[in-house]
Amino acid sequence: PKVNFWDEPDVLTQWEGFWLFTALVDPAMTFRSNFVARDDDVLLTSLPKTGTTWLMALSHSILKKGERGDPLTTNNPHSLVPTIESEPLSNHCNLDIYDASASRLLHTHLPYSVLPDSVKDSACKIVYIARSPKDTLISMWHFYNVIFRRDREPLPLDRAVDFFCSGMHPGGHFSDHVAEYWLESRRRPDKILFLKYEEIKSHPKREISRIAEFLGRPFTEEGEVEELLWRCSFERLKKLEVNKTANAKFFRKGQVGDWKNYLTSDMEDRINQTVGLKLEALGLFF
Ligand code: A3P
Repeated sequence: PKVNFWDEPDVLTQWEGFWLFTALVDPAMTFRSNFVARDDDVLLTSLPKTGTTWLMALSHSILKKGERGDPLTTNNPHSLVPTIESEPLSNHCNLDIYDASASRLLHTHLPYSVLPDSVKDSACKIVYIARSPKDTLISMWHFYNVIFRRDREPLPLDRAVDFFCSGMHPGGHFSDHVAEYWLESRRRPDKILFLKYEEIKSHPKREISRIAEFLGRPFTEEGEVEELLWRCSFERLKKLEVNKTANAKFFRKGQVGDWKNYLTSDMEDRINQTVGLKLEALGLFF
């Protein structure tokens, strides 16, 4: 079924038990049936608004470290790391996702359960980023107000909380999406690296080093970590000309705990009951 989302008709469609942007269902099906992962592919995975752009910048910079120049100065991170199911709809980059001849750094918002078998069965690595559900929701509320309601009043936040708590989130129910990747990362730590936005914020050097080691590119030189963190920092990327205008929506505040400025205690309770408790039962706290 198709559904109204953000009070826009037919924006989301249910596919394989989770909600996805209607326009992405066909590309997602193509991805699942046609994509053949290579052992040296790296797949970044996330729900929207959990820090995808930051993870793209960090991973790309880690894999290219040692090379001259900084592609981030002239490319938005989304142009460097294509989101597979969105690619047919965007003119982001020239990379042919179905050309298996080059080693690839790619991204998807799809849940683990629907990833192509070749991703699961090959040695291809997966890096997942999770974020506090409340900050994700607030970030998403701003993002979709910019996209869907530019010339109108913002969607009442209460409605956004309703959508979020009922699992109507592009990519699937928040807790299901996080839980699938979390449990799989516990089962196969060499295959999936599970990151939290909040931990990258609080312990950036430690977390960036984990990513670099996981990707087989550990830091060896003095000052490398600091330099890379600066290159990918919110403050720097937001100011770059390439990230202004159309891409500005990916850089808002970049902080932890902004939800406290918006959510009432009733909204907070609803999110805790529907999403938070499920994650806490798995030992996941944000
Ligand atoms: P806020 O809306 O809370 O500011 P995504 O990339 O998955 O769409 O997530 C976007 C969120 O990540 C936004 O959060 C955005 O500001 C934040 N973000 C983008 N780049 C970042 C960076 N380099 N460092 C930290 N946060 C970043």
